Amino acid sequence: MSEISCGVDFGTSNSTIAFYRDNRLTLVPVEGNHTTIPSAIFFERIDNTPHYGREAVNWFLERKKGRLMRSLKRVLGTSVMKQGTLVNGSPMNFSKIIGQFVRHIKEKAEAVADQQIENVVMGRPVHFIDNNPLGNKNAQEELHTIARNIGFKYIDFQFEPIAAAFAHEVHLTGEKLALVVDIGGGTSDFTVIRLSKKYLNKIDRAGDILANTGIRLGGNDFDKDLSLTGFMPELGYRSTYGEKNLQVPHKYYFELSEWSKVNALYTPRNLMQVRQYIGESHDKVRLSRLLKLLEQESGHILLGAVEDAKIALTYHDTYAAPLDFLEQGCAVETSKNSFETAIKDEVEQIATSALQCVHDAGILCQDIDLIILTGGSTEIPAVQLKFKELFPNGTISEENKLDSVGIGLAYDSKRKFLEGVSAIQ
Ligand SMILES: Nc1ncnc2c1ncn2[C@@H]1O[C@H](COP(=O)(O)OP(=O)(O)OP(=O)(O)O)[C@@H](O)[C@H]1O
Ligand SMILES: [Mg+2]
Repeated sequence: MSEISCGVDFGTSNSTIAFYRDNRLTLVPVEGNHTTIPSAIFFERIDNTPHYGREAVNWFLERKKGRLMRSLKRVLGTSVMKQGTLVNGSPMNFSKIIGQFVRHIKEKAEAVADQQIENVVMGRPVHFIDNNPLGNKNAQEELHTIARNIGFKYIDFQFEPIAAAFAHEVHLTGEKLALVVDIGGGTSDFTVIRLSKKYLNKIDRAGDILANTGIRLGGNDFDKDLSLTGFMPELGYRSTYGEKNLQVPHKYYFELSEWSKVNALYTPRNLMQVRQYIGESHDKVRLSRLLKLLEQESGHILLGAVEDAKIALTYHDTYAAPLDFLEQGCAVETSKNSFETAIKDEVEQIATSALQCVHDAGILCQDIDLIILTGGSTEIPAVQLKFKELFPNGTISEENKLDSVGIGLAYDSKRKFLEGVSAIQ
């Protein structure tokens, strides 16, 4: 049996797995022909049978009975990890849920390879949690335990943006000073790294990594901005009720704008309160849409519609998002301009983190000659424009935007496990 090792990119939104064997890298089709799988699990209500990825999302959208879980990575290193959650009435811990998901993609890789895989390099963001060294340490340890529990024996970690750089290095000519810009669903990570094809077999790359920074901001936050500015007003956000013209509490709308919070919204108490507000509301039509959504427990459908609208605005100046599930013929008009305004502050914070990285590397923006874009949110034109402005001499490289972290982790696993370097167990 040949020696084999793999790289796992467990992302907030999407995951990939690639393995290295006999001098060849294989990016594994993890769901049908797709090499990426949404990091989502749907547990059927009747017996908690799990479904993964697009299939999980579809089960949910088809209103099958059960519970959809997404953005699981955001739980790592937080107190929620220890608390666990109720899944269809039975307590489950997140370590088990995440383990089930990662095991699923491990098994896909093993089926393609037709052998077991014990060596893994797991990707990790530079910061799972901002300004919280203990939380970050815990998050990596939790992921390590999960990897061990599902049968990996030799486990190591690599920063996701560094992995993305490794994936691009294979195709380079000459030496380049690169900035990796990885803007995913939950986090944005930056790395300044010296790249050259001639370093491909160099085992210790620490000296070539000049700096890295990261911030817990990403596409999910852009969804939240678009939701609060474009969609929520159509459900009564900032509308008033009663003689004192008080605003309907904002908490419903904030919870409705985040994947990780939406499940907490469907309580009898919330339903009762919203019904009371409707009685005194000055905008009954819009507020009734909120009630319908709570009754239907269809917050995820709305979040999906918001994300679809955001992606549409990458390619179109305006987009009418259909909300037929709430009201026949109802649609929300969105525009690229207003979306860009809504995300402006966050794009600035992301840019500040990138500039900090360049500063920490002890170089100037002009010195960067390659910008490697990776992660779905780097598709957004306003984000790309920002990076072109900041780094005028940087050629933009954007191939394999969604797969490059997984590919680079597999190259790293080859260096760490198949070339005689001892692994961290
Ligand atoms: N064409 C597009 N335009 C705008 N945003 C997009 C586009 N395609 C994907 N996205 C967004 O990219 C994000 C997912 O990116 P990606 O798959 O790289 O994240 P991830 O690796 O799961 O997250 P992380 O690296 O933060 O853990 C989502 O927020 C998604 O909405
Ligand atoms: Mg990612």
